[in-house]
Amino acid sequence: MKSIRSLKNLKGKRVIVRVDFNVPIKGGKVEDDFKIKKTLPTINFLLKKGVKKIVLITHLGRDGSASLEPVIKRFFNISKISKEKVEFFKNIRKFSGEEKNDLVFAKKLAGLGDIYVNDAFPVSHRAHASVVGIPKYLPSYAGLQLEEEIKNLSLVFKKTKHPFLFILGGAKFSTKMPLIQKYLKIADFIFIGGALANDFLKAGGYEVGKSLTDGKDYGIKKIVNNKKIILPVDVVVKKGKKFLNKKVDEVKGDEIILDVGKNSVKILNEYVKKSKLILWNGPLGKYEASGSKATKEVLKAVAKSKAVSIIGGGDTVSLISLLKMEKKFTFVSTGGGATLDFLAKGTLPALKALQ
Ligand code: 3PG
Repeated sequence: MKSIRSLKNLKGKRVIVRVDFNVPIKGGKVEDDFKIKKTLPTINFLLKKGVKKIVLITHLGRDGSASLEPVIKRFFNISKISKEKVEFFKNIRKFSGEEKNDLVFAKKLAGLGDIYVNDAFPVSHRAHASVVGIPKYLPSYAGLQLEEEIKNLSLVFKKTKHPFLFILGGAKFSTKMPLIQKYLKIADFIFIGGALANDFLKAGGYEVGKSLTDGKDYGIKKIVNNKKIILPVDVVVKKGKKFLNKKVDEVKGDEIILDVGKNSVKILNEYVKKSKLILWNGPLGKYEASGSKATKEVLKAVAKSKAVSIIGGGDTVSLISLLKMEKKFTFVSTGGGATLDFLAKGTLPALKALQ
């Protein structure tokens, strides 16, 4: 991939930058601007090189109906960049050609600039027009954040340090099973939390009550007893309106598992202490149960450890950002699904499009 760092003179050039400002919005305001902040080095780099105009392209939300107004407001507030230099294209998912990767549409978009830069790692797993289409028509480069993502995420499979602990939480089993299978070969321990753990506990013969499970058979039974897999020994359950810490063999049919329990946190933190590389994706529980207590406790332990720590996944990263803990880890990825795909496959459609 060519990097924007190889660009010398950009005087008078118009540059299209695909960013991912798909950020949480609450009450008409940006709730977490981590992804926005992370693109500023690329934008400032281009401005210093004398570009005439930057056109930022982003999506917000799934279907394109969301207004970019809150995002635009926050961007200009935190960046102090002149509106004369940077303009926003409309929410790109408003256009049907985007998700179809319609090349006529991509060519039209390419007409907005002389050069294309991808600094949108979180959407780089999507073969969409603004991601893989435009590079067919313009000289195309990787932005600084995109490069950082690849450099740091590659550390886990290119320069693996041992003991290597992989903490995997959240839900969406289908996207995570390929990762578990791959990292059973690379990591030394895999701690399973979040809703994923419910499927594992169920496969191990435990009652999980009304807890969220995926339900499909992904071959969990074959790996549930693998010595590298560490499952919670206790959980926080919801019973009526109450939250209780229970051993995994005490969960009843009318209860809902919402978080990993305090003893599991202690055990996991022991693994954190002895690891030299920690990769973490997805929260250990639901906010509703205890305000993400388990996730926060373990985040603190990882922040204290001397291990190389790489953390990704939208919800975990939003929590880190709200707790202002970004600087305490080796690398915090801006990606959700893209991080998972890159960790599983070692490449993404958008990266191939830049080659
Ligand atoms: C993300 O938030 O993970 C990215 O912006 C991708 O969004 P998408 O899942 O709607 O493609």
